[in-house]
Parts: sequence; structure tokens; C-alpha cells
Amino acid sequence: MELVFKHVNVEVDKKLILNNVSGLASPGELLAVMGPSGAGKSTLLNTIAGRIPLSSGTITVNGHSITKDLRRKLCYVLQQDIFFSSLTLRETLQFTAKIRLPDKMSNEQITSKVDEIIQDLDLTRCVDTIMGDVWMRGLSGGEKKRASIACELVTDPVMILLDEPTSGLDYSTAFSLIEMLRSYARDHNKTVVTTIHQPSSSIFYQFHKLLLISDGELAYFGDTGKVVDFFHKADVSMDSHYNPADFILEKLKEDEKTRLKIVSAMDQMRNSSNWPVKLRSSEDLLDDEIQPETAPPADIMMEQPYNEKDSVRVSLIELDKTDDNTQDQKWPTGFITQYTQLTLRGFKTSKSQIFSKFKLIETVTLTIIVSLIWFQLPRTEETLRDRMGLLFYMGMHLGFTPLFDTVIAFPLERMVITKERLAGWYRLSAYYLAKMTSELVLILIQPLIFITIIYWCVGLNGVSSYYATLGTLCLHSLAGQSVGLFLGIVSMDIRKGMTQATIYIMVTMLLGGFYTRSLPVWLDWMKHLSFQWYTFSALLYLEFYDGPDLRCAVRTAVSESQFSTCLDSNSTSIPSSEVLQFYSINYPYWTYILPLFAFIFIFRIAGYFILKFKQKPNQAK
Ligand SMILES: Nc1ncnc2c1ncn2[C@@H]1O[C@H](COP(=O)(O)OP(=O)(O)OP(=O)(O)O)[C@@H](O)[C@H]1O
Ligand SMILES: [Mg+2]
Repeated sequence: MELVFKHVNVEVDKKLILNNVSGLASPGELLAVMGPSGAGKSTLLNTIAGRIPLSSGTITVNGHSITKDLRRKLCYVLQQDIFFSSLTLRETLQFTAKIRLPDKMSNEQITSKVDEIIQDLDLTRCVDTIMGDVWMRGLSGGEKKRASIACELVTDPVMILLDEPTSGLDYSTAFSLIEMLRSYARDHNKTVVTTIHQPSSSIFYQFHKLLLISDGELAYFGDTGKVVDFFHKADVSMDSHYNPADFILEKLKEDEKTRLKIVSAMDQMRNSSNWPVKLRSSEDLLDDEIQPETAPPADIMMEQPYNEKDSVRVSLIELDKTDDNTQDQKWPTGFITQYTQLTLRGFKTSKSQIFSKFKLIETVTLTIIVSLIWFQLPRTEETLRDRMGLLFYMGMHLGFTPLFDTVIAFPLERMVITKERLAGWYRLSAYYLAKMTSELVLILIQPLIFITIIYWCVGLNGVSSYYATLGTLCLHSLAGQSVGLFLGIVSMDIRKGMTQATIYIMVTMLLGGFYTRSLPVWLDWMKHLSFQWYTFSALLYLEFYDGPDLRCAVRTAVSESQFSTCLDSNSTSIPSSEVLQFYSINYPYWTYILPLFAFIFIFRIAGYFILKFKQKPNQAK
């Protein structure tokens, strides 16, 4: 499809970032957008992709203004490669294809599409390698970049926008990437627009067209091969041994006088007959638009004569087709597909976190130590405090670990989600529900192992109380995770999140009912804000309700029992129920459990809405 942007002005915060920029990109060709840093290259790409609004000017594709549907048919490869690091390249591509290709495509079709792209982008060697990140070795920089491009190509986009695809790559990798893009554009008749920083001259001449921006103004648009000539004519000449790409950028940055010379030479050219008809001012264009296909391509500037009527016609048919298919369909796939695919991916990513070596070591070490410390605890008044300590500790470990893990994990996950949501892959609700589902099973595995071993090693109340304790602590873990997710969403940054989480945890712990059971009256209400308090109360209930009696403390000269039963009568044991009374656990079990559900739901729902409205991803920066 032919992309034409004319007289594009973009203003951000009252600052004119793009000033009357025009250009076009034709199917089968590569357009390079170059300019010094801060010139407005990314802004131009963002504007074409529809992520920054135009202040004035027009952007059309085959003569039609870009609609939302059409925008879904163009792809945008961001400068950073953002992925879930633990997934392999094939998993990543399969997920992308399944969530972005229409539901009616069969699995075989999707797989063959993915295979085709893996071939096209020469990624066969690393399909089973994990994506990796700074901590985990995975794909190399160049492979990752190609993976980013591959993720965009699965949908067979009509146009490909790339922001600095070669930065961070060595010369030969960069060269082969651009060469690959060039042959892809030619073979599949795609329009490719890419910003590029400091290309070598051989990379530079791979591009058919060049658009130069300087301080938001157009400094050149036309054939790449003619830019040096243009500079000559503008009275800015180049030594013969120079790399033209270095030369033009150097000149644009040299001083204001040279820059103005170039910009005004460009202005002159825009008013000359050399300037493409399609980029002329709007009055000229009105005649032109009546018959967009038959308009003579009267531009001498184009090196190859404009002979791609056929391709234009083909893509116009394509355009009609897309209009039919996706007119009122906001998402490429239905909710169910999105939910299923996101759940599967969520399962894979959280599996690698939860079953990681470190997690395993943590669980095993803590389980062993706790079992040894409290092994077969005698049921006596003297060890009452130990028993409570154990119950409190279980709550602390199983509540705060998921809380911390989530606070740390979410900001990284958010980057991927933001990228995908900006490109309109799926609904937020599908993602959020899928996240809850995929993590549910995994988050409960840890309590299951931990509690089962410890409960019987220590010798707590009994079988039915074991199951209830397990259930309570699973809810407790979920409540901790909900709070963590909420804090992660609110802070959006690991360090801020950790600080908030630490404050919350410390306060929650103090109010949790173990360190002090008699808070000052004016502070007492605050314990209700602590999910640890509810869990601890519920655990005490389960341990002492209907449990075996406790042996009274041995009376000595300096101490005696705290329980009246032991003091008054000759009884040597304390009924469990008296312990409950002593610690003011006076309400039925469910009154301690219900608030945990409230914690789970309120924090998750609040997190969803904050994600949806407050932290709306605005720009891909
Ligand atoms: N939200 C914003 N508010 C104010 N100024 C902005 C905003 N976004 C971008 N700018 C400014 O717009 C100009 C162009 O930014 P842009 O990111 O498009 O540059 P660039 O050409 O891509 O640079 P680089 O080569 O360094 O990536 C810069 O001067 C930048 O500071
Ligand atoms: Mg940029």
C-alpha cells in the first residue's frame, strides 16, 4: 500500500515537534527516516502508527485516510525488544500468531504461517532458545530484533514501521537485517518505513527513499541516491571519500546557517515541478484524488518510473477485503481465544518463576528449618507461645512471599502488556482474568507442600483442622498476592513498589495479633486492615476449637499458670476452648474468612480499574 503523509504538524505540550513534514512510501520499497537525535523521527513514526495525534496535515494509505481497522493492518516494531524472557522464540511466535490471527484459521494454518516467517527471517537456528534478558542468556541482539519483526509479520501487515531496528547491532548484523527487510518488502510487496541512526554507506544505499528531518522540519525527501546531489545544489558539498549518511547528518548539525541552507533548498524543491504530485498542496490534490489510480506519476525525482499500478490495484482489493472483514470487529480474535492463549502463556511464564531453582531452595530450606524447630511440639501451656509463633509464622511466610514476588514481577510484565495492548492485541479484561487463572494453581502449590509437611511434623490439631488450615492459608496467599498486584500496579516501578510493600508488610505484621494482642483503643480498629490478623485469628480458631486439652504450666515459686482453670481447681489441663477465649477469638470461623475474600476481590478489582483508567498506556516511548 502506498503511504502518503502531507504537511504533517505535530504539537506536544505546545511545542511544535514536526513542522510541515511530507513524504511517501511505496509498496515494495524501503523508506529511511534519518535525522539528528531529537529531530522527530520517532514522533513521525508514532504519528503514522496513530499513537500520537496529528495537529494538522493528512496521512493516507492508497488515497484513503487511515482508519482504525487499517491501523491494525500496519505493524510497528518498537526500538526496544520487549518479551517475556522465559518463553522460547517458538512459544512467543505461536502465542502472537494465535492471538492476532483470526479465529477461523486452523492450527495447521497458523503453524505453517509461523514456520514460513521463521524461514523468511532466518530464525530457524534459534526457535527453541528462550528470549532471555539481562539476567538470563537467550537470543542475541540481532536475533531478538528479528524476533520482534517476526511477531509483527505474522499478521501479514500491509505496512511495516520500524524504529531504529539496527541500533545496538554490529555492522554485518545490521546490514543483513536491512537486506532481509529489503527482500521481504520486494517479495511480498510491502511498504517499509524505518528510522535509522548512522548507517554505513552500504546500508544507506539499501534504502530506496530517504526522508531527512532536522529540528522537526523536512530537510530532504526523495531518492536515496540523489541526496548528495541535492546537497551539492544547496551549496553544501561532500568530499568524495565520505560516507553520505555521516556527511548529511554532520552538515545538519554543523551550524544553523548550513541547516537553514538545506531546509530552504528543500522548500524550493517542494515548490518545483520535481516534487511528487501526490505531495503537492491540497488544491492540487483535489483533482488528483478524483482518480487516484490513474493519476500520472509525474515525478522526475523518483529514480524508477512509477509503474506499480497493478500492485496498487491489488492492494486496493485487499483494502476492500479488510474493510468487509473487520469493519466492526475491534479485536483480531474473540474473548475466549484471547483468554485461553493468555492463560496458557501466563501458565508458562509463572511456571518458570514459581518452579525456579531459587524458589525450590527457599521452600525446602524453610520447610526443613520450621519442621526442626517446632518438631512434635508438646501440647502444654509452656509451649503455647511457640504454637502461636508457628501459626503466625506460617501466615507471614505464605502471605508476604507472594506479595513480594508479585510486586517485583509485575512492572516487568507490564512492559510487555503495554506494548501488546498499544498494538491492540487483546482486551485488558481477557489478560487480567487470564492472569488470575494461570497464577491460581501455581500460587497454591507452595502452601500445599509447606503446610502438609509442617502440619504433621509439628503435630497440630487434627485431620479436619489440617484441611481447613490449608484452605485458609491458600486464601491468605491469594490475599497477599492481590495486595502485591495492587501495589505493583499503583507503583509501576520495582523500587517504589518494594518500599510500599515493606511499609505495608511491617504494619500488617505489627497489627497481625502476635506481637501484641492489646492495642490502644484508638489504634485497635487498624487491625482490621491487616489480612494477617484475620488469618492468624482463623488459624488460632482451627488449632484450638475442639482440640485436645493443654497441660497446665508447672507451678513454681516465680511463675504460675495464666489460666483460671489451672489456678482454681485441681485440674491439670486447660480445655482448648479456654485458650480461644483467652485470646478473644470469640466469633465463628467464617467471620475471619470472609474478610480474606474481601481482600482478594477488592484489591484485584481496584487493580484492574487503575490499570484500565489511570495508568493508561499513552505513548510507546
Ligand atoms: N511528550 C513530549 N513532550 C515534550 N517534548 C517531547 C515529547 N515527546 C518528544 N518530545 C521532543 O520531541 C523531539 C523529537 O523527539 P523524537 O523522539 O521524535 O526524536 P528522535 O528523532 O526519534 O530522536 P532519537 O534519534 O534520539 O530517537 C525531542 O526534542 C523531544 O524532546
Ligand atoms: Mg527516536
